[in-house]
Amino acid sequence: MRALVVYESMYGNTHAVAVSIAAGLGASYEVTLVPVTRATPELMAAADLLIAGGPTHMHGMSTAASRRMAAEAAAKEGSGLAMDPDADSPGIRGWLSQAGAGHGLAAAFDTRIGGAPLLTGRASRGIARLLTARGYHLLTAPASFLVSKEGTLLEGEDARARAWGALIGEDARSASAMA
Ligand SMILES: Cc1cc2nc3c(=O)[nH]c(=O)nc-3n(C[C@H](O)[C@H](O)[C@H](O)COP(=O)(O)O)c2cc1C
Repeated sequence: MRALVVYESMYGNTHAVAVSIAAGLGASYEVTLVPVTRATPELMAAADLLIAGGPTHMHGMSTAASRRMAAEAAAKEGSGLAMDPDADSPGIRGWLSQAGAGHGLAAAFDTRIGGAPLLTGRASRGIARLLTARGYHLLTAPASFLVSKEGTLLEGEDARARAWGALIGEDARSASAMA
């Protein structure tokens, strides 16, 4: 069974979370981990399970404007922010909007600032909506992994992402066995 983990990341947090989710999934699936720029229709078609995640920008999924803002913030002298190698992308929204009809099971995640989702927003709700619109069946509620206001992953979030990946793998295997 194959799982595809697709991430969008400007500063590396969502990338790091995706790596941990993929590690957790590895117990029950053969996992491919790619940024949105390399999430080809062939990889999607070959996957029994799709996990997609991105950063929360302006309370939801990123846009071209919010990605530009993120890049400008990183370019400022002394920002301390480093761009992810695959930051330049159409974003999860652009990728899923272009993607063909999907099949099988899926789950959505995001990174966002710690706090009540009502205040911070969360990209994973929009990602989950797009996955459903493409024909995927959501295996579980969207998940958020939290960063500090300074933009670093909170302690324990890597481990939580790994555990979430492992649980999704087990649930997806059980769901497939019953289908
Ligand atoms: C332009 C911009 C807008 C953001 N808007 C929000 C927001 O509305 N809510 C929130 O919780 N975090 C917001 N953040 C913080 C990011 O969600 C957070 O830093 C995330 O971990 C970044 O992921 P990345 O390192 O993979 O790019 C914003 C960050 C940027 C750069």
